[in-house]
Amino acid sequence: MSGRQPRPLIAGNWKMNGLMKDLQVIETVSDRAAEGDLLADIIICPPAHLIAPALAATGGRSVRIGAQDCHPGASGAHTGDISAEMIADAGATAVIVGHSERRADHGETDVLVAQKVDACHRAGLIAIVCVGETAGQRNAGLTEAVVLRQLASSVPKASNASNTVIAYEPVWAIGSGLVATPEAIARTHAAVRQALADRFADGSNIRILYGGSVKPDNASEILGIENVNGALVGGASLKAEDFLGIISACR
Ligand code: PGA
Repeated sequence: MSGRQPRPLIAGNWKMNGLMKDLQVIETVSDRAAEGDLLADIIICPPAHLIAPALAATGGRSVRIGAQDCHPGASGAHTGDISAEMIADAGATAVIVGHSERRADHGETDVLVAQKVDACHRAGLIAIVCVGETAGQRNAGLTEAVVLRQLASSVPKASNASNTVIAYEPVWAIGSGLVATPEAIARTHAAVRQALADRFADGSNIRILYGGSVKPDNASEILGIENVNGALVGGASLKAEDFLGIISACR
């Protein structure tokens, strides 16, 4: 993309990690963000039981809190699920949707993911929609085809740069210490950018995050790649120092 890039977003995905004592991480990151010189928006997505206390831990400073999943419905007989409306009611502003761990562990399809994104929009939340190929798909040369198919069918019509963020996460790079090459990241992000620009009026401004083993020592290179507008960070978001190291790599 040429021209002005959207402001970077660094999103932390705590996955099924985090107890009350770990809110200290959010306090530390919020304190640092309050100094006002960090060049990124910050969202931390703890497990749902921590959303309200996490919000308190931000002290109303600029760090925002998100969730990791939602049900497509607003309420009803769905034991164990949580709706986008409930997440919004707890004070969160974003939801990670269609993460590869949910696609794999819970059989989530593109159609279901699209319904969840619609639910986020209905509740006034930002949907962070995850796409990405498995190792087998990459080895078969299918990366772009898989990612574009997921994008076409899991990002609904009402998506725009204010309510939607895309996270490209190669499944084989998540939690593995492996990172796609800068060339491969640039190629896939360019394809995603083109698809978004073709489909949405403000598609050039929809943020595209990279995710999968982003750490302080590789963040600068990854975040410097064209069309990479931030990162979705798992393991390294659990330690304030590591997460801040990644945020500081935004220029
Ligand atoms: P990781 O996870 O940074 O631990 O690889 C990223 C993610 O799954 O969002």
